[in-house]
Amino acid sequence: KTLPASAAVMEKGNYRHFMEKEIHDQPEGCQRTIAAYVDTLTTRTKIPGDIDFAKIDRIQIVACGTAYIAGLLGKYLIERMADLPVDVEVASEFRYREPALNAGSLAIAISQSGETADTLAAFRYCQAKGMQSAALVNTVESTIAREADVIWPIHCGPEIGVASTKAFTAQVAMLSALAVAAARQRGKIDEAEENRLVRVLLEAPRLIAESINLEEAVRAIAVDVSKARDVLYLGRGPMYPMALEGALKLKEISYIHAEGYAAGELKHGPIALVDEATPIVILAPFDSYFEKSASNMSEVMARGGQVVFITDPEGERNAPAGARVVVTAPKCDPLIAPLVFSAPIQLLAYHVAVQKGADVDQPRNLAKSVTVE
Ligand code: G6P
Repeated sequence: KTLPASAAVMEKGNYRHFMEKEIHDQPEGCQRTIAAYVDTLTTRTKIPGDIDFAKIDRIQIVACGTAYIAGLLGKYLIERMADLPVDVEVASEFRYREPALNAGSLAIAISQSGETADTLAAFRYCQAKGMQSAALVNTVESTIAREADVIWPIHCGPEIGVASTKAFTAQVAMLSALAVAAARQRGKIDEAEENRLVRVLLEAPRLIAESINLEEAVRAIAVDVSKARDVLYLGRGPMYPMALEGALKLKEISYIHAEGYAAGELKHGPIALVDEATPIVILAPFDSYFEKSASNMSEVMARGGQVVFITDPEGERNAPAGARVVVTAPKCDPLIAPLVFSAPIQLLAYHVAVQKGADVDQPRNLAKSVTVE
């Protein structure tokens, strides 16, 4: 007689770990997020709440961990597209340093759980200064959501793996829609451009799925990377926060020391670490930063660095020869490049951890939700 599968086994489906399942859930998760913030009929954005982006003078984002990195991506997107200043700060610093704030600004707390103690305290600090407040959360029945003026749920479904994956892409998807909406309200783009960008957002789930199909190629690199003591991640523009996220994922679950750097900072320190034993992951779609990233790649290779180059088809054609491995993600509009480039870095961390026999879903010393200081 067969034993009934435990609930956990059933929920994991055919996947070995929740993290693997959640990586594969991302096309559907992001589709639900995007569906909540765009109107497919009119191809326009719709952001709930009474927030006039033409009137606010600044956005202050507070968050911790991966949610903080999602916030940094939000800053890159919103400032560039909407010409609206955005500050992002880790909540544990923000809450104690008595930051100067303006009541005409909007506070956004980003938190998968909605319960992170530092994020909550930082959010309350903003509210006490008279700021409007919005909660970008996965759990709508949470303290941060309850205390916010506006709740922006990400709708990606429960996330079990301690290392955040699908909540991260869903947070970024929402912030991408927000950047388009703010750009439109502030007169930085016309309606035709808003329509085009909404169609770009609607394409994201399919492109994320294509990028997840790179899994076999990424698994092959993981064997090499699992032997490293240190790994560097480099990127420019929105690929800089992505480099931070790649390094965070790797250190969280594989226990390999990893650092993300703005590629332009290479000469100011990290280049000293480059040797034959240090894999260097360079994230570089063929965008306005590509040439500079490619030249950093040459500098690293000239010093014996083993480059894992994550790019797109045009980047692959234009890259200097000599990378150890090239991973080619699908071509996409820069608006959704962070979403499309997420899967390769998540899968790399995942397969390195599996290779090392680490407990992927319950990494040592880490908690899913940090509700105490
Ligand atoms: C913990 C988790 C991270 C998460 C962070 C913030 O450190 O291990 O994956 O990014 O908390 O959590 P939150 O629920 O506020 O997004």
